[in-house]
This record gives sequence, C-alpha cells and structure tokens, in this order.
Amino acid sequence: MLNDYSDFIINDFLYSSEVIYNAFFGSKYYSDSKISKYYTKYKNLDSKNLDENYVSINFGGKYFSVNDAKKIGYIREDLELSKGVLNTREFDILLSSLIYSFDRCANTVGHYDAYIKGKNVKDSFLFELIKPVTENTENKKIKIFREDANKLALTIKSDVTYIDPPYSSRQYSRFYHVIENIVKWEKPILYGEALKYDAENMSEYCKSKAIDNFQELIYSLKSKYIVVSYNNTYNSKSRSSENKMKLEDIKKVLDKKGETTVYMTEHQAFNAGKTELKDHMEILFITKVNHG
Ligand SMILES: C[S@@+](CC[C@H](N)C(=O)[O-])C[C@H]1O[C@@H](n2cnc3c(N)ncnc32)[C@H](O)[C@@H]1O
Repeated sequence: MLNDYSDFIINDFLYSSEVIYNAFFGSKYYSDSKISKYYTKYKNLDSKNLDENYVSINFGGKYFSVNDAKKIGYIREDLELSKGVLNTREFDILLSSLIYSFDRCANTVGHYDAYIKGKNVKDSFLFELIKPVTENTENKKIKIFREDANKLALTIKSDVTYIDPPYSSRQYSRFYHVIENIVKWEKPILYGEALKYDAENMSEYCKSKAIDNFQELIYSLKSKYIVVSYNNTYNSKSRSSENKMKLEDIKKVLDKKGETTVYMTEHQAFNAGKTELKDHMEILFITKVNHG
C-alpha cells in the first residue's frame, strides 16, 4: 500500500492513537541522537531515587508495581517538561515508547477494565524504543487526525477507505483509560476499583444504534473502494463482547453503496476470560462503490 499511493489519511478519536500514529508514520524529522539520549536516561532509572508521583500514587501496586509506576510517572512528567526541547515527532516517539513499554508490564489481562487482584505485582518495566516506519515514507503525505470518523468522512475524498470499527459494547476509551490518562497527563481524579476518570470519547459504534451510525458513515464516504474488517463475536458469553453490528446488516448497508464481496478466514480471537469462541472468523468486506 505504501508503495502504491502518495497520500494517506489516518484517523482514530483516541488521544493515544494520535500519538502512536504520529510516532510511527509522522513526516516530521526526528533526531536519533536526541532520542537516544532520552533512551539512555530512561533505561537507567533507579526507582530508589524517584519520588512518588501521579502514576505511583494511583496505580502503584495495582496496574503496575510501585517501583515500575514511579518510573512511568517520572518519565511522563519528564517528557512534559521536555516539550520545549523535543519537537512533536520526537515527543510522540518517546511517549509511544513509554506506552508500549508500560503496556508490556501491566498487571492486566490485556486491557485496563480491571487489574489482577490479590497478586504481588513484580517489577518488570523496561523502557524500550519503538521503531518508527521510515522505509518508503519519503515523498508521502500522511495526515493524522483525531476526529469522530463520521464527521471526518464528510470532509475527505479517497481512492480506498479502510474501516476497522469496534465490534462490541466495549468502549475503547474506557478499556484503555490508563493509556489515555497517561497520554493526556491532565492528572484527573480517579474513581472506583478500576481507577477511571470521567467518560469521554464514547463511541456510537459500541451502542445499540451502531448500525445506523455505520450506515451514516458509509453513505457519506466519497471513495472508490471501501474495505471493512470485522470479527464475529456474537456467540460470546460476555454481553460486553457481543457484536453490536450483525454481519448481515453490515453487508446490507455496503450492498446499497456498491458491489460487495465478503472474505472470511478462521482467526484466533483475543479472549480475556470466560468467552469460548468457536468458529471465530475474521471477515473482510470489500465494496467497489457505484458512482452515478
Ligand atoms: C477495532 S479498533 C481498531 C484499531 C486499529 N485498527 C488498530 O489496529 O490499532 C476500533 C477503533 O475505533 C476507534 N473509534 C471508535 N469509534 C470511533 C469514532 N466514532 N471515530 C473515530 N474512531 C473511533 C476506537 O478508538 C478504536 O481504536
């Protein structure tokens, strides 16, 4: 794909997605030597020399060990204080590296709807750098947005549009609140066992009218081809992982837009617990849009 086209638009309404996309695909120059100075500093932190901070006070001994949480909070604060020294690409590369590094040591089953209780959380945080995509990106225009997809669709025109919507009632902003919180760094007051902050970016795709929202998006797209990926999780035992949009309904919406082909392949689903997913399929809809 990177070889075939010159202009790309990437969008997701989460703050962390914007940072990560800019880190990997942004077009701004970044200094390897500056990044590696920060890498050395963060890699060699000793938690004994670090004060308590927002991350250790709220998440220490829960989502992370106390020592790991101290390092995570220290790094995030240090990045905030380095905004005048780092350009936005360098900042996002280091912040994404922090996200990937702490996500690897989080005391969870893969998302942050809860942490694993009754466990002595061990120190395991290791700061590692992400590898930005640099091959074949010269002369490419890559625009990154953090917008509601339905609003953005009204303003753009494209050859191919790829959509990977949520499939269930699991709100990404709630399931990944720790990541969003550390990215935004506004240090809000947290509530409940899961230590979430006030809800934001609640997706219509995770609610009962998801298919109406999907239809609105598809109808407003000005694109030659539309590609939609989808998982059939509706036999799930957990209500929150049940599909909000049925395969047949997605097909109906796409059929009205153009000639639609459905590709299916068996897939090992992400499973955080009680759900036994047999016959789990990864599905790809490709629509050649009718014009005129
Ligand atoms: C199945 S995930 C896709 C993730 C992405 N393809 C990836 O591999 O990282 C669905 C994504 O849709 C985003 N999302 C949900 N509703 C949205 C909306 N109305 N506008 C923009 N993004 C939305 C969520 O934040 C989530 O990241």
